[in-house]
This record gives sequence, structure tokens and C-alpha cells, in this order.
Amino acid sequence: MNTINKQWSPESWKLKTVRQQATYPNKVALDKAINKLSNMPPLVTSWEIFKLKEKLAEVQNGKRFLIQGGDCAESFDDCNSPIISNRIKVLLQMSLVLIHGLKLPIVRIGRFAGQYAKPRSADLETKDGVSLPSYRGDLVNKIAFDEKSRVPDPSRMLVGHASSAMTLNFVRALIDGGFADIRHPEYWNLAWLEHSGDSTEYQDMMKKISESIGFAEILAGRRLGNLSRVDFYSSHEALHLHYEQALTREVPRQDGFFNLGTHFPWIGLRTNQLDSAHVELLRGVNNPIGIKVGKETTKDHLLGLIEALNPSNEEGKITLIHRFGADNIEANLPRLIKILQEEGYGAVWCCDPMHGNTESTSNGYKTRKFNNIKREVELAMEIHKSENSYLGGVHLELTGENVTECLGGARELNEKDLERAYKTQVDPRLNYEQSLEMAMAIVSKYNQ
Ligand code: PEP
Ligand code: CO
Repeated sequence: MNTINKQWSPESWKLKTVRQQATYPNKVALDKAINKLSNMPPLVTSWEIFKLKEKLAEVQNGKRFLIQGGDCAESFDDCNSPIISNRIKVLLQMSLVLIHGLKLPIVRIGRFAGQYAKPRSADLETKDGVSLPSYRGDLVNKIAFDEKSRVPDPSRMLVGHASSAMTLNFVRALIDGGFADIRHPEYWNLAWLEHSGDSTEYQDMMKKISESIGFAEILAGRRLGNLSRVDFYSSHEALHLHYEQALTREVPRQDGFFNLGTHFPWIGLRTNQLDSAHVELLRGVNNPIGIKVGKETTKDHLLGLIEALNPSNEEGKITLIHRFGADNIEANLPRLIKILQEEGYGAVWCCDPMHGNTESTSNGYKTRKFNNIKREVELAMEIHKSENSYLGGVHLELTGENVTECLGGARELNEKDLERAYKTQVDPRLNYEQSLEMAMAIVSKYNQ
């Protein structure tokens, strides 16, 4: 049943059920920050948004593959040159592996330039008998466990907007400057590539690609254009309703509204209910939209979401990001695929093998096993194939840094290793080597 009211405005979410929001003690300061944010320049443009939707339509039709990746939670401190460029490097290397192995063009969407708000399982966090508001991401409060840090501060929304703008500006400048030129993949080498187990395979592939490009350029008798440019799009969970509303705007000479704070906003699992304020806010924008779905998603729920967010069945509009966990995917994914097929709806299917595979170690770390992540992706590929569907992409939490947060991978990281470089603010990420290994695993499964 579609319970969503047809009347939409950027504020109509206020009439719906609001979940996962901070309580700001100073309402005057909150209004001031929202007002200021509403007048700040947008971060993306309507034509970039349309371009991405076209590419996602190609993904939906099996002609392109999507890689969406980045931090679980970005932090303001990590808005710096090495962190941003290393993340771009690893995404570029992974997409090179995928282009070469899948023989398909890739669309890259970063979990960056705005991934600053996090849903939490409880409003309060208690440590040694002291209860404080939970950390809800840098957009809301600070992670340090003391009273002052945890008070939601509306001025952080402006810092979030500025940090997103700086991140995007740097990414755009790198790409425009030729950093992503496929003729020069050596620009993306991270210092420790040479120590990686996958290094030789990767270097061989790079050599083959260079030779093929050289050969094609000889045949064409000219330098091939657009090899020097790849597109990067931004995405984040559209969680903070005031922030997202302030960036939901009309633009000259286009119909309707756009979320101009990111190319690709997604709705998280904790806020995807049919009565949700988040669904209401995103129902009114032209952006392509991601929706997290999981083992708890029923037929009525899935159809209600699609009817609310994409009633005209527009191609490229909806990406269903499924996150079941390796042990639950077989019992649930075929069911969701069939619902869409029977009702004649289309969507991009994207596998998030991270959020259903989180566990805790005996030494108190939140982690994920590389093998479970890999198994969920491989099962997703098999299931989509056998159900006559197409797995269009993967959604990964990763970083270009040499962290030790997920267990396993070629270096067989163990629980003790987690103590060495566990840096994430929220969920454990694949490190650089594990990310590259994942891209190679996707290719080898695809070509089986
Ligand atoms: C996330 O993507 O970081 C997240 C919180 O995921 P989910 O909504 O799927 O739990
Ligand atoms: Co996460």
C-alpha cells in the first residue's frame, strides 16, 4: 500500500515520521545555520546529475558496471590531500581492473564529499556509567566521549558543506589535470603497491592496457580522445534532514527540484520505512537515488518504495543496494529480484557486501572478514545470473590507506593485526590491498 501523500514540497518531510535525527539544544542557532546553508552555493549541478542518471540507465541495461566506494564515515580531519588522493587512486586502480576484466565501461561513485552523517542504534552511548548523546557523524557532533564534544552543534553543517566543496574541488582538479589518464596509470601507484601480493598481476595488466591503447592509436592514426578524463560522482547517505533540505533546490531552465549537495543520495536501511521523512524528502528530487534493502525488506515494502520514488519506472533512477550478509543472501535476493520482475519494475542492482557481514572480535574490534565480503559478492553474481538479472555494481567501504580493520585477504590479517592500524570512526573498511584483491575477485568470478 502506498501511504505517501502526493503533495510534495522540500518541507513536506516534516509531516512524516522523522527518525535518526540529532536533538539540537539551541534552536535559534539551528535556524541560523540552516538559513545560511540554504544560501550557500550548490556542490553539484543538474546536468551532472542527469549525466549520472544516464550512466546508471546503462548499468540497469547491463552495459556498464558501477563501483561505489569510500569511507563508512568521512571525518573533517581527513579532508586533506593524501587521504583524498589515495582514495581516488584506489578507486581508479579498481576500475582499471574491472574495465580490463569485465570488458565494460565503469561508472565511479565515491562515498565522499558529504558522507558525514551516521545513523545509530541508540540515542545515547554509555561508558563506565556515564551516558552521552551518540556520535552521529562529524556533521552533527564530535566523536570524543565527553559532554562538550557530544552536544549537537549546528555550525558543523557549514563545516560539512565547506569540507565537501573542498573535497570535490580537489577531485575535479586532479581529474581535469590528467591524473586519471589511462595512459599513465603509474600516477595512481600507492607507495606500497610493490609489496602487495597482487602487484605482479596488476602490473602485467597495466602493461597490456598500455600496449592495447598504443596499438589502437596507431590504427586510428591519432591520439584517442577522452582517455584522459574519467568521471567521478559523489554520494552520501541523505540522513540529516535539515542539511539535505537546505540543499534541495530548483535551478533555472529545469523542471522540478534537485538535491544539489550530492549527485547520488541514498536512503539507509534504518530510514527506509514507507512512512519515513527520508523517503518523502527524496521523493521530490530528480537525482538518481540509492535505497538500501536487506533481509527484512518485504514485498509490500519494496513495491511501496519503488512506487513512491519512481512511479514512472524511469531507467537509472533507482539503485537497490542489497546488504544481506553472506549467510542470508541466498534466502532473500531471489525473492526481491522476482518481485521486481513480476511487477515489471526496473532498477540497478548493487551489492553492498559490507553491512550484513559486520562482527566483533574477542579483543573488542568491530570487523568484517574478507572472505565473507567476497562470498557475498560472488553469491550475488551467481544469483543474479541464475535469476536472469544483472548485478550492476558493488558498494564497498574502503580506503586508500594501509589500515588494518577487516580480517583476512592476501596478507591474512588476524585479530592481533587489528590493533596496529585500526582508524575508522564507525565501520571497518577494506584497505588498499584488500580493495584491489576484491576487484580481482569480481573479475575472476565474472569470467568463470
Ligand atoms: C552505511 O552504508 O554506512 C550504512 C549505515 O548502511 P545501512 O543503512 O545499509 O546499514
Ligand atoms: Co558503514
